[in-house]
Amino acid sequence: MNMRWVLAATVASALTPALASAAVPQAPTFTKDIAPIFQEKCEACHRPDSIAPMSLMTFEEVRPWARSIRTRVDSRNMPPWNIDKTVGIQKFKNDRSLSDDEVATILKWVDAGSPKGDMKDMPAAKQWPDGQAWNFAKMFGQTEPDLIIRSTPYTQKAGANDAWWRPVVPTGLTEDRWVRAIEIRPGTVKGRKITHHAIANLRQDETDPLAQNDNDQNGNPVAGTFMEWAVGKQGEIMRPNSGKLLKVGSKISWDIHYSNGGEDITDVVELGIYFYPKGQEPKYRQVLHLMGATNAGGVDIPPNSVKSTEGFFVLRENARVESFQPHMHLRGKAMEMDAILPTGQMQVLSYVSNFDFNWMSTYLYADDVAPLLPKGTIIRVVAWHDNTANNKGNPDPNVWIGYGDRTVDEMAHAWVNVTYMKDADFQAELAARRELLAKQSTQQQQQQQ
Ligand code: HEC
Repeated sequence: MNMRWVLAATVASALTPALASAAVPQAPTFTKDIAPIFQEKCEACHRPDSIAPMSLMTFEEVRPWARSIRTRVDSRNMPPWNIDKTVGIQKFKNDRSLSDDEVATILKWVDAGSPKGDMKDMPAAKQWPDGQAWNFAKMFGQTEPDLIIRSTPYTQKAGANDAWWRPVVPTGLTEDRWVRAIEIRPGTVKGRKITHHAIANLRQDETDPLAQNDNDQNGNPVAGTFMEWAVGKQGEIMRPNSGKLLKVGSKISWDIHYSNGGEDITDVVELGIYFYPKGQEPKYRQVLHLMGATNAGGVDIPPNSVKSTEGFFVLRENARVESFQPHMHLRGKAMEMDAILPTGQMQVLSYVSNFDFNWMSTYLYADDVAPLLPKGTIIRVVAWHDNTANNKGNPDPNVWIGYGDRTVDEMAHAWVNVTYMKDADFQAELAARRELLAKQSTQQQQQQQ
């Protein structure tokens, strides 16, 4: 069984564009060329009652921002998506970045004086799902999730600085339950304006050694992300036959980033959980691991320096890696996740070259590229911190920085969702992947002919 081939082929196929994208138009106009891009890639945040400061739905709304849009799009600061496009896996379920052609189209349009174009070319307004509905409930024949957990209320005053709110709330479960879907949302429409990001961390004692993470420096189990709310993300339905295990005595430890909404707003964040019916146990448990430098001694950043920190995680069972979420604080600069295969060969899985503390993104690998790694593979996570004055987000380059929870301390790990598989299931997954890759490459050859 040649594992190397499977992984290499996976990464290579991810780098070749699946579809030839439309060429950049000669004379782009707003109604014909720009509006469709903005509907797909900007409106999730840039519409009324969402997180961004201005709406970008109509020509009249967009026009005054043309120069600023050019700058932000050209630097790839907007839309927020910090994966390096030149290395590693490039196919994600939640990719919100612009293609090279889309960037070129937007720049060309601004440089030509941002012409409006003909109103008859304007696409119909995009219909957005109701942000205040429980969107998965209907799918399971319910009106609401089985369990709703709320953060404690927080008031963000008009004009106040960004704030991080971290209450801990018990789940109240009296027996272990398997989770098949999770949704999370701000409690009210107004709350959406101030809720920049919310992460629900799960704290529970693990008895399964495969599911355990290293303890923190005080010997307490480290809380793992259960769900995060980012604008435009509805929630998470587990793969067929997969679930997360929520245990008796578990708690949700919230990490909510509130920003200025222009008026006093009080809100909570709601986490909706859907269980598998009692007695129905999914075959695979999805486990969220903390990989990278995980303890006090691992992070040691001198003043006025750029420092890299490494951590290693050995897969004790065959696994499919489902996602990558770099976690650092204000001095975080970049993070790379590599797989060192049992053969010794090393592959870059993902590289966030431009980490931004304000956007705690989870990158979800598409089904046909999610890395399949044999047991014994070592996952290497390298974090870079910039503790110099060059880093605009750095509150003070003249102090030594160590590991800790506060935003002025640092962390250097990734949250990585993993599905473990016994040998037979893993071989079947590999075979299915090979077949899919072979089919895709035949299709590509046919298209090229
Ligand atoms: C995930 C949410 C999100 C998406 C998607 C997004 N933006 Fe933004 N955008 C924001 C937020 C929040 C801000 C304000 C904070 C900041 O300036 O970074 C912002 C700021 C901006 C600004 C700066 C406004 C100023 O004050 O100068 C521009 C320009 C912009 N966005 C353009 C775009 C464009 C164009 C797209 C799509 C191609 C886009 N954004 C997609 C959330 C988003």
